[in-house]
Amino acid sequence: MSEVRRKLVAGNWKMNGDRALLNTFIEQLNVPQSADVLLCLPYPYLGLASQNKFSIGAQDCSEHEKGAHTGDVSLQMLQDLSVEYVIIGHSERRQDHNESNAVVAKKMANALSSNIKPILCIGEPLEVRENGDVFAYVQAQLDAVLAQCGDAFFEKLTTIAYEPIWAIGTGKTATPEQAQEVHGFIREYLTQKNAKASQMRLLYGGSLNASNATALLAQKDIDGGLIGGASLKIDDFNVICQAAS
Ligand code: 13P
Repeated sequence: MSEVRRKLVAGNWKMNGDRALLNTFIEQLNVPQSADVLLCLPYPYLGLASQNKFSIGAQDCSEHEKGAHTGDVSLQMLQDLSVEYVIIGHSERRQDHNESNAVVAKKMANALSSNIKPILCIGEPLEVRENGDVFAYVQAQLDAVLAQCGDAFFEKLTTIAYEPIWAIGTGKTATPEQAQEVHGFIREYLTQKNAKASQMRLLYGGSLNASNATALLAQKDIDGGLIGGASLKIDDFNVICQAAS
């Protein structure tokens, strides 16, 4: 089956940037006609980012609907701010906030029944790669979400990001072949369960930058990027957007 998947270039600012940088991006970002562009901003900037150039996303959401959860932000609140996407299960959340596969699965189920599009993040630590257990590891991460979400996984999920932890913020990018190998596995695993997965966008994340974007984005099952460091530099991010078009 051959299909055209529109590429998505997604910046994840993490806990970086400020209002001035956001204004620079609003003014200077060149969004190509043939790709979608998204910036996942820290919560305080989401309400300041409304414009028609690029989509906006949050970097996390609470697994609870509302209530006594000091410091947490609900999906409903994000919806109030016209947020279109939310990153769920980023490895930094899994590590810094002890988010288990079960918590990630619950957030995913909630998001898939909301109007916000989740981006499910998966990816292995270095020791798993060195032991040759990458497929089993990412499969277990997917299985936890599949078990919780049921049909909604294939009916509503549009985007998954594969981010090998050893490549995040390290400058050690996966080679295009390494990335494609895992993307191909994810695509095949999910497509065997439901043909709709052939249309899902699979993003690569981990030291993706202006120099390696073209080669990574040219891979058959890489439909865009989830970009940390290079999404904080307008010139680099514009080059990556261009590489996706
Ligand atoms: P870097 O691009 O800084 O490696 O970060 C990748 C990432 O974690 C995006 O979510």
